[in-house]
Amino acid sequence: MLEFNNVCYSYDKTPILEDVSFKVKHGELVFLIGKSGSGKSTLLKLIYMDLLADSGFVEFEEFNSESLDRKAIPFLRRKVGIIFQEFRLLKKRTVYENLSFILEVINVPSKEIRRKVNDVLGEVGLIHRRNSYPDELSGGEQQRIAIARAIINQPILLLADEPTGNLDPETSIEIMDLLKRINSKGTAIIIATHNYDLVKKYPTRIIKIEKGKTISAQLKQQS
Ligand SMILES: Nc1ncnc2c1ncn2[C@@H]1O[C@H](COP(=O)(O)OP(=O)(O)OP(=O)(O)O)[C@@H](O)[C@H]1O
Ligand SMILES: [Mg+2]
Repeated sequence: MLEFNNVCYSYDKTPILEDVSFKVKHGELVFLIGKSGSGKSTLLKLIYMDLLADSGFVEFEEFNSESLDRKAIPFLRRKVGIIFQEFRLLKKRTVYENLSFILEVINVPSKEIRRKVNDVLGEVGLIHRRNSYPDELSGGEQQRIAIARAIINQPILLLADEPTGNLDPETSIEIMDLLKRINSKGTAIIIATHNYDLVKKYPTRIIKIEKGKTISAQLKQQS
């Protein structure tokens, strides 16, 4: 589903990722770890092709960074859901509108929008919050809505960039449990984090970016 093949990426002339190679299969759950500044967010951006490799290639499904047609990017993005530490909800729109908006822009019929939004709100346990504004929700609730938004198009891959960074430990576990549940239904998930407690609590595959800027991706299996 996803392959990094000798990927190098630099900002200006500062190398961030060097010869990074790994593969992720359908349905996998992967933690992406490494110190602050090691390149985790950069690596995720290379997956959704917000950034393109300087050399080597990233291949995600039928999309290859070397031969990418810019016009294909919206189609790629429909197969990938993304969540961020700071939720990034639209403040002036209700929970319902934050979700329906995603489907309106791709011309989904309104009846189907209602069904999909309600389904996904049920999945994250927040139907009763459908008419609230993001500011009226707790951090954990906002992240659930961001997750709902990320999965509404049924992506095959969910990318989470430090999804529990703004949450207390208990809420972090609730969010992780939700991500685990989504993963168990078949969506592959890559979670970038430096929350090692969380990584320890959920033994799964780990990809580590080594500290500093001489980067190698290491695959480690935790028992
Ligand atoms: N737009 C940019 N222009 C120049 N340098 C950048 C840019 N974005 C990131 N960097 C640098 O690239 C390196 C990797 O950044 P990145 O955000 O990928 O790290 P990270 O592992 O996600 O860190 P954190 O854990 O703090 O989120 C850092 O040294 C950062 O300063
Ligand atoms: Mg980051």
